Amino acid sequence: MTQPRILSGIKPTGQPHIGNYFGMMRPAIDWQNRGEAFYFIADYHALTSVFDPIKLREYVREVALDFLACGLDPQRAVLFRQSDLPAHPELAWILSCQTPMPMLENCHAYKDALAKEKKPSHGLFAYPVLMAADILLYDSTVVPVGRDQVQHVEVARDLAQKMNSLYGPMFTLPEASILPHLAIIPGLDGRKMSKSYGNTIALFPEEKVLRKKIMGIITDSAAVEDPKDPATSSIVSLYRLVASEVDVRKMEEDFRSGGIGYGDFKKRLFAGLWEFFAEPRARRAELAADLGYVDSILAEGAIRAGTIADKVIRRVRTAVGLRG
Ligand code: ADP
Ligand code: TRP
Repeated sequence: MTQPRILSGIKPTGQPHIGNYFGMMRPAIDWQNRGEAFYFIADYHALTSVFDPIKLREYVREVALDFLACGLDPQRAVLFRQSDLPAHPELAWILSCQTPMPMLENCHAYKDALAKEKKPSHGLFAYPVLMAADILLYDSTVVPVGRDQVQHVEVARDLAQKMNSLYGPMFTLPEASILPHLAIIPGLDGRKMSKSYGNTIALFPEEKVLRKKIMGIITDSAAVEDPKDPATSSIVSLYRLVASEVDVRKMEEDFRSGGIGYGDFKKRLFAGLWEFFAEPRARRAELAADLGYVDSILAEGAIRAGTIADKVIRRVRTAVGLRG
């Protein structure tokens, strides 16, 4: 059986948060032992929302540091920066010539943007096409992503099929891989944790900052003595990610029995989170003291990714009638 080719990307639009970690980074790290893995920092994608060049470069580095600290092993997985490989936007253009507008009008990200902003940019509208290019450029078979990204992987599949039937077989069909029980990680306000909602918990904040964030989680107005519902609480949802089964069961029981306030539960959540990320935090501090090493990983990654991307883009160029 051939090995799976795994690919995923993360946008450098701010500090990675625990939704990114559980929804994408950890599954990606788990996958690195099961096939050839390619993970990239999607800085072309970030241009739809980050307009400060200094910040953009800083975020790229943050993502690289966090990913490596959390266990991405550059000996096994290729970590690279998207803009080191201009074949990504090139393939996106070629695909966009076969992308029906209604397919993009139907994508959640664009619909959400329309609901919030008055005038989404063309880049934002077309970003599923760039994402399809990211995926197809590596003949990827498995794409670990959070549930919100599954629709975009479907777009990549549809475009691959369309190109294959129009020009003859040139693309491998990818499949999304999500952890079903980790659908959506809630943020501080109970909505999906997302940088765009400002409700995130970063992976490696200062202790004081983390404590303050956790204590600020929005809860209902149940009094200390009231029984509380663990099923609807984001404190419990987050605690489940980082605590042992025994500790989670204890928290659920204490919720139901009443007599304990949310403040106490938040303290337990803080302790759980702090402990869970202790080892990666130490590793991150070491890596941050050796940024030359981090840069060399990205440079090496670009070379390794380039050998695959070059082959595929040549194949596509030839198939559609461009200079091969
Ligand atoms: P954000 O919404 O904060 O901008 P991104 O869109 O950069 O996050 O997401 C990067 C990856 O992390 C994607 O694969 C996405 O599905 C996953 N992800 C982000 N937020 C969550 C969440 N709250 N729960 C689960 N997965 C998430
Ligand atoms: N669009 C993804 C997100 O917002 C990031 C991303 C870009 C990606 N290209 C990708 C994920 C390719 C998987 C595969 O999270």
